[in-house]
Amino acid sequence: MNKTKNPFRFGEPATNEFFTDRKKEIEELIGHLKKGENLFIYAYRRMGKTSLIKSALKMMENDKQAIAIYVDLQKATSCAQFLEVYAMAISEAMFELKEKLEKIAKFFKRIVPSFEIGGGGKWKIRFDFTKTTENIHSALDEIFDLPQQMAQEYNIRVVVALDEFQEIEGLHGGEFEMLIKPFISKHPLVNYVFIGSKIHIATKMFTDKSRPFYKMALVYPLTPVDPKIMADFICERFESTGKSIQRKFAEQIVEISQNIPYHVQMVGHHLWQVTSKDVTEEGLYQAIDLVIYHQGELYFNLYDSSSHHQRAVLRALAKTKEMFSQDTIMKYNLGSASSVQASLKALIRNGFVQKDEDGYKIGDPFFEKWLNRN
Ligand SMILES: Nc1ncnc2c1ncn2[C@@H]1O[C@H](COP(=O)(O)OP(=O)(O)O)[C@@H](O)[C@H]1O
Ligand SMILES: [Mg+2]
Repeated sequence: MNKTKNPFRFGEPATNEFFTDRKKEIEELIGHLKKGENLFIYAYRRMGKTSLIKSALKMMENDKQAIAIYVDLQKATSCAQFLEVYAMAISEAMFELKEKLEKIAKFFKRIVPSFEIGGGGKWKIRFDFTKTTENIHSALDEIFDLPQQMAQEYNIRVVVALDEFQEIEGLHGGEFEMLIKPFISKHPLVNYVFIGSKIHIATKMFTDKSRPFYKMALVYPLTPVDPKIMADFICERFESTGKSIQRKFAEQIVEISQNIPYHVQMVGHHLWQVTSKDVTEEGLYQAIDLVIYHQGELYFNLYDSSSHHQRAVLRALAKTKEMFSQDTIMKYNLGSASSVQASLKALIRNGFVQKDEDGYKIGDPFFEKWLNRN
């Protein structure tokens, strides 16, 4: 048994030695932020958006260029939850500044936080907005005002990152965008980074003329890491633990993973685990099997939650690009071209299927393999 720690990590934002490249992006993002611009960053899930923005913000914090408020809207399925995660993020940013609890509590004026002891005996601030429905406007007003007050108090730029921003789309009867737009501050020291992973939903929010956030931010599509740099990263990670991998295998990992950093790290993780010294071809196949095995339950649930027709479309798509041909429709019993279109649309909305210049494809390369095996 090799006791060294696995040099590949996935499932949490990549940092330090687990994070590669993105130098150009970090420089560009910081450049825009320092100019006071709002940004809308988009890319499919697991392409490294959260890792990138967190790294860029950390850098700005370390250089005393900004205070960062990072808000994950993934769990914000109501206005009350939106307020809660945002308030928590603000209080966390103040904790980072080593502010005392009393001071943090005082910062919130109309919204009264409560305190509880969290894990490790540390005090935690709690917010309860469940009774705020009538007051949602004034609560929003206050919350969105706080970054501005922080900027004034500390005389430094405040960057608010709203991750998985598209999740707000359905809130407040679909009118949440309209509701919060007036609060997006025009303060010279506060700017926003909106991050979206459901591309078709998120991009519309910023590029459709009829939407409240139209032109509210500079649109920044995040492109993949250069595949050569990704392959270098794989080799370097193996070498850092005294194991080795031939470059052709590293390139193969990038290819099989369609250069999605999450999948690269997942294959790397399993491959490292089954390798005692030098990576072999057999080891690589074993690692791929392990990825599919470990993801199996997730894939089953994705499949299971889809309608009967969507499943048939997924099965067809795992085999062919000719989704509208008579052959495909007959073979997979897909009914009509219009119903194929409707299912593809729903699957895109769910994030299972992607559409680009080459047509439709299953977003997760290992989900595709799983479909072909099961
Ligand atoms: N720059 C990077 N270098 C190496 N691995 C990365 C990088 N960015 C992301 N990853 C890997 O991909 C996973 C998903 O990244 P994340 O930033 O959460 O993506 P997103 O926010 O786009 O869904 C991370 O857990 C990590 O394993
Ligand atoms: Mg993310």
